[in-house]
Amino acid sequence: MRLYNLKNQNQQVSFVQAVKQGLGLQQGLFFPLNLPKLNDEQLTKWLQYDFITRSSHILSTYIGDEMPFEQVTESVKKAFNFPLVVRPIEENIASLELYHGPTLAFKDFGGRFMAQILAQIASNEPITILTATSGDTGAAVAHAFYGLNNVQVIILYPENKITSLQEKLFCTLGENIHTIAINGDFDDCQTLVKQAFDDEELKRILCLTSANSINISRLLAQICYYFEAVAQLPVEKRQQLVISVPSGNFGNLTAGLFAKAMGLPVKRFIAATNVNDTVPRYLSEGQWLPHQTIATLSNAMDVSQPNNWPRIEALFLYQKWALDELGYGVVDDKMTAKTMQELASKGYISEPHGAVAYRILRDQLQDDEYGLFLSTAHPAKFKQSVDSILAKSLPLPTALAKRAKLPLFSHQLPADFVLLRKFLLKHVTR
Ligand SMILES: Cc1ncc(COP(=O)(O)O)c(C=O)c1O
Repeated sequence: MRLYNLKNQNQQVSFVQAVKQGLGLQQGLFFPLNLPKLNDEQLTKWLQYDFITRSSHILSTYIGDEMPFEQVTESVKKAFNFPLVVRPIEENIASLELYHGPTLAFKDFGGRFMAQILAQIASNEPITILTATSGDTGAAVAHAFYGLNNVQVIILYPENKITSLQEKLFCTLGENIHTIAINGDFDDCQTLVKQAFDDEELKRILCLTSANSINISRLLAQICYYFEAVAQLPVEKRQQLVISVPSGNFGNLTAGLFAKAMGLPVKRFIAATNVNDTVPRYLSEGQWLPHQTIATLSNAMDVSQPNNWPRIEALFLYQKWALDELGYGVVDDKMTAKTMQELASKGYISEPHGAVAYRILRDQLQDDEYGLFLSTAHPAKFKQSVDSILAKSLPLPTALAKRAKLPLFSHQLPADFVLLRKFLLKHVTR
């Protein structure tokens, strides 16, 4: 697989290089030179495969001859060892539940696949994974790499801007997992990661790679669950399918659009955001004007400078799709809470991110369409807001209950690259 740097077309890398490097020169994202496209016969056949077989084919088609099919299958088997569920909510709407993995969020798919791939390609070379999280990536990556020899993981997260249960899931591990609460928002954390990748000396000393959705292996892994969702739907519901994606950094939506580009029949995608609405405003007014990030109930989507957007633009250009084919919508906290109550009255407990996606889907779905909204996290991860909005007390799943009792090991830093650099050189010893 060949990929090029969206900021510098002259830089081309292999899949393995892209996974190891994370970002290209000038902080450019890597994007495939060619996108695979399935014909109708292949698509029908693949939709009949089981999840593991189909996912191995999808990923192998991208990776090409850099990794034997059997090796990809091995990674997929180890990474995707938990189910995903399409749960019907109304006659023409279902929730795609992506939170049945070990850290109870959709990030388990990408984080665990990336860990498998890195373990294979890095062999005995020591590496350092540096990543920013708005809440859920941190846990998925930390658990996927916990205890691995030769891998140090540094996770930056915005102090007091993730839920305490999200924090407990990844900041109580210790050993090779170093967590830093940054005095700032997620965009500040993301900027620090980019600055680190621009620092050639630091990159060399620490052998830095990134686990954010800027890392292509995570994005490719996420394509697989869109195929599985369609495969689980009865054939008559696949024809007019609309998928609503709760979006922050836009990695999840990018993966869905890759699936569509491969030939998965999706009539329309909806980019659903909270009031951090840089993309919806861009789509309606044509101007890219990020505002100051605002804290919301759907905190993992509190992003005003979404990293993956250039990939979506590149994909639309490659496919010759028009940007106005992309649906969008914005939901504020008041409406998010109301929507969670509306879903509860239908017998479905949702957390704020899934509720944002449902709201816009419900409002925009036409009579002849079938809608899927992505439920990206387990409601218990947002227990505090779910309990108070729905006036109930959600039980904690075992994984979370165990962690909730442990002390936090996090460090604290201001959003200052010089201090972060010092910290990394001191704490990440080889
Ligand atoms: C629960 C949840 N929903 C939605 C999102 C947004 O996903 P993306 O950043 O891929 O747009 C995140 C990302 O952190 C998340 O954790």
